Amino acid sequence: MKPLIAGNWKMHGLLADRKEITALVEMVKQPGKPDCDIVLCLPFTLLFPAMKYLAETPISLGAQDCHWDEFGAHTGDISAAMISEAGCDYVIVGHSERRSGHGAHGERSQAISQKAKVALAHGMMPIICIGESLDEREAGKAESQVLDQLKKSLPKEVPADRISIAYEPIWAIGTGLTAGAAEIGEMHGVIRHALVETLGRQGEKVRILYGGSVKPGNAAEILGIDNVNGALVGGASLKAEDFYGIIKAAG
Ligand code: PGA
Repeated sequence: MKPLIAGNWKMHGLLADRKEITALVEMVKQPGKPDCDIVLCLPFTLLFPAMKYLAETPISLGAQDCHWDEFGAHTGDISAAMISEAGCDYVIVGHSERRSGHGAHGERSQAISQKAKVALAHGMMPIICIGESLDEREAGKAESQVLDQLKKSLPKEVPADRISIAYEPIWAIGTGLTAGAAEIGEMHGVIRHALVETLGRQGEKVRILYGGSVKPGNAAEILGIDNVNGALVGGASLKAEDFYGIIKAAG
């Protein structure tokens, strides 16, 4: 399965940061680019300008969220049609920073499955995030939490090759901590098993990404673990050189 390396810029990036995007384009144009899919999930304000920089390049454009409704009275929200028009082929849904109540979003898995459904209907590929908190892991509930989120966040009748699952232990996001190789392998195996149970043989085609403090220095090890089919990268995607270091590790 071709790995997917997805950058998530979160709430970072102004027009001045386009130099990182154009630098990345130059890097991936060089001969010997690893055989992987690459997407940059940028803040909404950068989507239209980035569509121009990324046209005719091997880098796809993605957004970090969309609403589950087609349109409507949802002040401050954005629809799947809008981000698709702005050039997105991918969209992250259900990131833990949106599931948590801290950012006042408090998103539930049922809403996330609706978001994934509307993204698919607009021809985009959703990256559905799941992951446990430290408390849940310490209470021995990591697996049940992840499986519960997976079950409820997956839309019905999904085309397996058009969705990705990103397993991101919340305690590893932005902390510099990564789950150990054994923990990652175990959880990705559990997710794969659940996908096959739900989708049959098609479940083998779903890419399962790992996310949480992936850096150039640990990417090769993480990407080499069974059932790890890519990475969702936050902090290390902001600088072209770091992100390219991770892309190279996928080769
Ligand atoms: P991080 O973020 O790489 O900065 O830990 C990952 C994510 O939140 O997707």
